[in-house]
Amino acid sequence: MPSKQAIAAQDNATYTTSSGAPVAEPYAIQRIGLNGPVLIQDFHHIDLLAHFARERIPERVVHAKGAGAHGYFEVTHDISDLTCASLFSKVGTKCPATARFSTVGGESGSADTARDPRGFAVKLKTDQGNWDIVANNTPVFFLRDPSKFPHFIHTQKRDPQTHLKDADMFWDYLSLNPESVHQVMILFSDRGTPDGYHHMHGYSGHTFKFVDSEGKYTYVQIHFRVRGGFKTLTDAQATKLAGENAEYGLQTLFEDIEAGNYPTWDVYVQTMTAEQAEKFRYNILDLTKVWPHGEFPLRPIGKLVLDKYPDNYFAEIEQAAFSPSHLVPGVEPSADPVLQSRLFSYPDTHRHRLGVNYQQLPVNAPVVPVANFQRDGFMAINNQGTRPNYQSSLVPLTYKPKPYEQVKHEVWLGNANVDLSFITELDFEQPRALWQKVFDDTAKEHFVGNVAGHLGNVKSPIVKARQLSVFANVDQDLSDRIAKAIGHPSVKPLSVPPASEATRFQYKA
Ligand code: HEM
Repeated sequence: MPSKQAIAAQDNATYTTSSGAPVAEPYAIQRIGLNGPVLIQDFHHIDLLAHFARERIPERVVHAKGAGAHGYFEVTHDISDLTCASLFSKVGTKCPATARFSTVGGESGSADTARDPRGFAVKLKTDQGNWDIVANNTPVFFLRDPSKFPHFIHTQKRDPQTHLKDADMFWDYLSLNPESVHQVMILFSDRGTPDGYHHMHGYSGHTFKFVDSEGKYTYVQIHFRVRGGFKTLTDAQATKLAGENAEYGLQTLFEDIEAGNYPTWDVYVQTMTAEQAEKFRYNILDLTKVWPHGEFPLRPIGKLVLDKYPDNYFAEIEQAAFSPSHLVPGVEPSADPVLQSRLFSYPDTHRHRLGVNYQQLPVNAPVVPVANFQRDGFMAINNQGTRPNYQSSLVPLTYKPKPYEQVKHEVWLGNANVDLSFITELDFEQPRALWQKVFDDTAKEHFVGNVAGHLGNVKSPIVKARQLSVFANVDQDLSDRIAKAIGHPSVKPLSVPPASEATRFQYKA
């Protein structure tokens, strides 16, 4: 990075008011004599105070603390059999990318090393508009019913009375909603405390659809695998860093990019046909499940490289607006109900957080021209000039249908179904495999210690016992080890219906 002196020499700026008038002395205030009152005619001073008082915008309601950078995405493999997205029409195509990583529950000043999932949001500026992949660093999520999301998030944030984080409400929610346990297993492993923001993988979590030009669709899950591997901190290291350097994630991302150690991810998809999805043991629209890699191997598609730290954090990262609904032709959402809700929620919050013209901010503006009938509103920077603001026969726009527009997607069957969270034995299979097959002895020891350190703070005996029951559904030994660590008697599993009663993915070609 150039020195501050070099930047100043290059900038060669003269101090002015916000309206551009030069001012000789930034601290000067017009007043009567040496001790008299300050004058309201002093625009320079009023402008200074008035702008300062308006510097804050709403922080993100979740994922408020984060770090980000720019770079590029490069297509490394031909996947034109899967999608007609023009980005993938040629191997070697590159497009500009912006990524933002974040913790979820903490405020904008909170510690980067908190135990929390990490957001992993990527904006790809393609020649067909922006494609945002708004992912996390875990392949699953706490819920499969979006109506639970605000409840869930409230319990991870602050108590309405004490304004403290509260272990009782944290575990009250999780124990009442056992479909969360797969994500809880990951959160309380060392993966819950990644080493910085750029030594971790990213996962779409949701199923999306890639569609080819004939309308043939394939279900996909997107994976970002970081070169150098997923690095984690122990609970003790993360807690120490939170006290000593709350900005550890921001700082290490900045330092690595400035030193030329550009964070790089290889990007893959897992793919599944509709016929495979029908036979698959788990519902592909259930965000609490993974697709086993043995059955559905990773297929490489590209790489993501971050090689440019922003010049201005607020303009380029705080104002970045990522949404799973920012898609391009050839990429379609699946019917995952959580994804469907998110398609609405993100642009909704962007209009609140950044204003109705948030897409016109430079960090969000696509690299291709935008032409439509949206006009005006606060901060209309690109108001489309002389172009008519209605569908005009005199100055018509050109319309370009998606190649597969007329092709039918899934045919949905059945009546309105509101119970998305019905728990069965199926919900415990994948968490059990994590405990029994994936965690080694050290991972098990860390997991038990990390949960005990948190669950041990719960005051309600009912909540404690209920969460131990959920863990007993995963594995009795796991539950007993946590119980022992917090001085609690052994607890039996919850009684749940068999896996055969789980909601299946129903599809008709
Ligand atoms: C941020 C809603 C689930 C990943 C946000 C924001 C909202 C939100 C309102 C703030 C966005 C902003 O201010 O720009 C929801 C809802 C969910 C949900 C309603 C479920 C019903 C998920 C899931 C994932 C995810 C399942 C990942 C697979 C993210 C990320 C951000 C975010 C990465 C931060 C984006 C950024 O860096 O600007 N979410 N979310 N969310 N969410 Fe979600």
